[in-house]
Amino acid sequence: MHFISMIDQETIQRIMDAARIEEVIGDFVSLKKRGANHIGCCPFHNEKTPSFYVSPSKGIFKCFGCGEAGDVVSFLKKHEHYTYVEALQWLARKYNIEIQEKELTPEEKERQTERDGLFHVSEFAQKYFADLLWNDEMGRAVGLSYFRQRGLSDEIIKKFGLGYCLEEWSNFTDHALKNGYSEAVLEKTGLTIFKEDTGKKYDRFRGRVMFPIYSISGRVLGFSGRVLSSEKQAAKYVNSPDSDIYNKSRILYGLFQARSAIAKAGKCYLVEGNVDVISMHQSGVENTVASCGTSLTTEQIRLIKRYTSNVTVLYDGDSAGIKAALRAVDLLFAEGMHVRLVLFPDGEDPDSYAQKYGSAALQDYLNTHEDNFILFKTRVLLEGVKDDPIRKAELISDTAHSIALVTDMLERAEYVRQCAYLLHVGEEVLSNAVAKAASQARQKAYEEARKTENVGRSVAADNQNDKSAGQKDESENASTSYDTDPTSHIVTLPEAERHLVKLLLDFGNEKVLQEVMGEDGKKQNVEYTVAEIIMAELRSDNMAFTHPLCQRIFEQCALMLDMTHQIDPQRFINSSDSQLRTFAATLMMDTYSLSDTWRSKGIFVPKLEDNLLQDIKESLYTFKTNRLAQMVAERRELLRTADEEQQRELLEEIQQMTTISRQMQQARNIVIAPRPERY
Ligand code: CTP
Ligand code: MN
Repeated sequence: MHFISMIDQETIQRIMDAARIEEVIGDFVSLKKRGANHIGCCPFHNEKTPSFYVSPSKGIFKCFGCGEAGDVVSFLKKHEHYTYVEALQWLARKYNIEIQEKELTPEEKERQTERDGLFHVSEFAQKYFADLLWNDEMGRAVGLSYFRQRGLSDEIIKKFGLGYCLEEWSNFTDHALKNGYSEAVLEKTGLTIFKEDTGKKYDRFRGRVMFPIYSISGRVLGFSGRVLSSEKQAAKYVNSPDSDIYNKSRILYGLFQARSAIAKAGKCYLVEGNVDVISMHQSGVENTVASCGTSLTTEQIRLIKRYTSNVTVLYDGDSAGIKAALRAVDLLFAEGMHVRLVLFPDGEDPDSYAQKYGSAALQDYLNTHEDNFILFKTRVLLEGVKDDPIRKAELISDTAHSIALVTDMLERAEYVRQCAYLLHVGEEVLSNAVAKAASQARQKAYEEARKTENVGRSVAADNQNDKSAGQKDESENASTSYDTDPTSHIVTLPEAERHLVKLLLDFGNEKVLQEVMGEDGKKQNVEYTVAEIIMAELRSDNMAFTHPLCQRIFEQCALMLDMTHQIDPQRFINSSDSQLRTFAATLMMDTYSLSDTWRSKGIFVPKLEDNLLQDIKESLYTFKTNRLAQMVAERRELLRTADEEQQRELLEEIQQMTTISRQMQQARNIVIAPRPERY
């Protein structure tokens, strides 16, 4: 708690040696072994298909969707918002490695970052409230007996870190100040309220039982406090306000205690209240979380999705409960979750049901009352329709829209069948309505994509402009420098880049036979993939793309190739970056190939399918000559302002580039050298 660590190099090494990246990340993300790697859904962006790779042998992780990458420490820093030292401390705890720690001096305490301070004081408060619950006379008499009377076992009370705060104005604040915590930190966590006008300070939580709210990794972020009396004046629950460490829409109550059970069961129960979570745990249903006193948010859904895409929503059978459930459905569907629902008898929640009938009855109820959400929705809405034909038509259309959101085809067909039965309409009627709703949704998505694509286009256009400026300059000098191949002016650099990237995405894993000269001087055919050839060629000449999105795709393809020996273009299509996504999709959707453009300009290029290798060579040739021309032009520009020394260097570079370019043009081809190392 009050320690700062000066960790020596040797200890750091021991920690890093002990840490296994797949184990560490496995604590937060559900990973599956795939060959030499482990894969899962990226915790840093929202995705439906896993593109998050963990390589145990290399000790790194990499997401091919959003590009996040790093080692075990950078994962913890990014995911848990730890500092470097905190990440090491966490690892040391996990792997039972002792680190020498020393007590904080007052100045050191001061120097600690603000967030650190918030974390520390929250943990301090949790310990204090728990201590009062178990050891203070009042705490035991009031707090502990309340929990026991609600049927919670001592074990479960401890597991959830429950506590009690005294019914006094500033008991906690005084205690914290005495222990060296600053007023500023206390105020920021919301544990203390300072009145500006009077200068008075008092505790936010007074005379309440306390539910600490933990992060996924078990750090205390905030509190929820419940009144003990049933008087109506006081709010039943008081919660910590949002702070630098606590954001209620991004936290799920109980996730820390539930996460491994969720991953194991492949399913998550979503309930309304804190006590419901705890009660479910006690009844042996540990894969349960609650949405911290707010209505369900997209961020919360994404937290669940790190572990599973199956959610069963447990709602109170009263009208408020049904309304909340209906609101949640579209949100959950929009995130691609598989949603099921259990409705409790009017007035009961999971906790009251378990207390009344016992654990076995609760489990039995859950197992026998699970309904799929669309059926539930249709059934509920149908009750309001009665015999009104217009409202029934609306309901059919409404149901169709819900079904259209279901991505799985088989699941969708099943919904159509069951809902048609419920609605008393023919399956083909509903099926047509679903098709119509789906096409409307597609149209909308397409229009949205077009909007973002325009952004991508203007980037490309800018590049094109840059290029034409450069080319003009270069062509002015062309006659004096070298014989320029006319094609390099016809097919522009951006076009050439896009075509190479398209080749990577469309044919990256395709195998081609390449004739190479063996060490013995004999020709032999070696099999390469298209991606291997393109990567090797560009890497060997150290050439980068000028278009930023082309370059990003190229870099990510290089990493994919390193880690999986494959190019997976789907990763770009699923990317959370809309620009990248649209760009890749547009390239891959392009039905005409660039070769056709060339052909129309009178340059002979065989069709992709005819001769892939030839096309690769042509594309590399076009790209390289174009790029070289541009690089020469750039240097010419620099010449104008360069001093004598720089001029000499620039001229030398221009000379070199010109020579390479001339050689390439003479050979009218790319010479692909044999490359012993495979990508
Ligand atoms: N809640 C809140 N503030 C309130 C009331 C409720 O933040 N004034 C949140 C709490 O997280 C609570 C949840 O909404 O757990 C559900 O509220 P409710 O159903 O009223 O309470 P229960 O969970 O049933 O609480 P208990 O069983 O302790 O009465
Ligand atoms: Mn309750």
